Amino acid sequence: MAKIKKVKAREILASGGEPSLQVTVTLESGIIGEASVSYGASAGSKEATVLLDKDLKRYNGKGMQMAVEIINKILGPAVTGLEASEQQNIDQKMIDLDGTENKSRFGGNAILGVSMAVARAQAYEEKLPLYKYLINKFNLKEISKLPKPMVVMIEGGKHADQTTDLQEYLVSAMGNKSTVENVRMEMEIYQALKNILKREGLSINVGNEGAFAPDHIKNNELPMQYLVEAIKNAGYIPGVDAGISIDAAASEFFENKYNLKIENKKLNSEELINYYCNWIEKYPFVSWEDMLSEFDWDSWPVLLNKINGKFPLIADDLTVTNTKLWQKAIELKAANAILIKLNQAGSVSETIDCCKVAIDNNFWTITSHRGGGETNDTFMVDLAVAVGSEYIKVGPTRGERVEKYNRLMRIEEEINEK
Ligand code: PGA
Ligand code: ZN
Repeated sequence: MAKIKKVKAREILASGGEPSLQVTVTLESGIIGEASVSYGASAGSKEATVLLDKDLKRYNGKGMQMAVEIINKILGPAVTGLEASEQQNIDQKMIDLDGTENKSRFGGNAILGVSMAVARAQAYEEKLPLYKYLINKFNLKEISKLPKPMVVMIEGGKHADQTTDLQEYLVSAMGNKSTVENVRMEMEIYQALKNILKREGLSINVGNEGAFAPDHIKNNELPMQYLVEAIKNAGYIPGVDAGISIDAAASEFFENKYNLKIENKKLNSEELINYYCNWIEKYPFVSWEDMLSEFDWDSWPVLLNKINGKFPLIADDLTVTNTKLWQKAIELKAANAILIKLNQAGSVSETIDCCKVAIDNNFWTITSHRGGGETNDTFMVDLAVAVGSEYIKVGPTRGERVEKYNRLMRIEEEINEK
């Protein structure tokens, strides 16, 4: 048993060169736990608030000094003296102190930073790997398999410039290969894709998530053709070794109608659904995500119905790792898989509670990185392992992304050694 002795926060830089938070928790035993908080570029409107300074003289209003102050002067002192093992109580205390529905008073970023750092400190205190500590603490099932990689290969939308309307085209590992083999396969496919893009005269510059972001691509379907070809060229079988996932992030191109700029099309919900459904038989899909806007609740069940169990429909902006919204999605049959992002919920306990609703209903969880403001922190990987996520969704290159796959491979090594 160890009480929290000190909590200290600081501003750090996230992957997009703008600030985020890092929190250090020191226990009375001398053990230290540290965590960094990520945030998104195409965030859902109901996510826990990312508290920003709004001081336009610093980082164009995106500083986090206020959140740092809140941690150092309010949240830190409030949890100091509490047993670090009492994760749920600590999280609840911060949630109650904030008192708002979306953590707008103290910021989901501030609360989450403390929450993650406490969990990490206590895991060290108990000499357990973080995933194992989370399994014990939250009464989760023992590990039966590790999450597979779902790798962003081509990105557009808000994550890039002058490219596809849809935000992400991903390759998802299929079958029962080891993590090390799955990661190798994905990276070989990524290299094969580079050659295809070059051949097509497209740029191989990368976007927010380290995936290719070719500009002036002619339509939203071409990336899927390239991905199937890349899987084959790398020596794998589409639909057997690896399949395709899409995250449209459709809230970002909804303006009264769905505005597909590169194709000069403005579609209503029904037309967009038909546009997508033409693809179903053409490509080996593993999942679709946020194909409709987060405000288009009525259309989600229509799409889910049309997919007809062929692959899961993942809710991200629709449900924002929020138990209530996720329960609503299940009741309305709007989605049958959920994307999990710690900072959408704003605390470790709420994130895991939301996963439990998926686990109880036998739905996939897919634990995800964030677009614009990712950090080197790998908490999300341990979380994914602990809750038994089917996939981790992470970009293929850049330090803050590959760190996640390196952590997953390390966990596999650790488990195999036991
Ligand atoms: P974001 O993108 O982190 O920029 O929101 C990732 C996603 O939409 O899944
Ligand atoms: Zn998404």
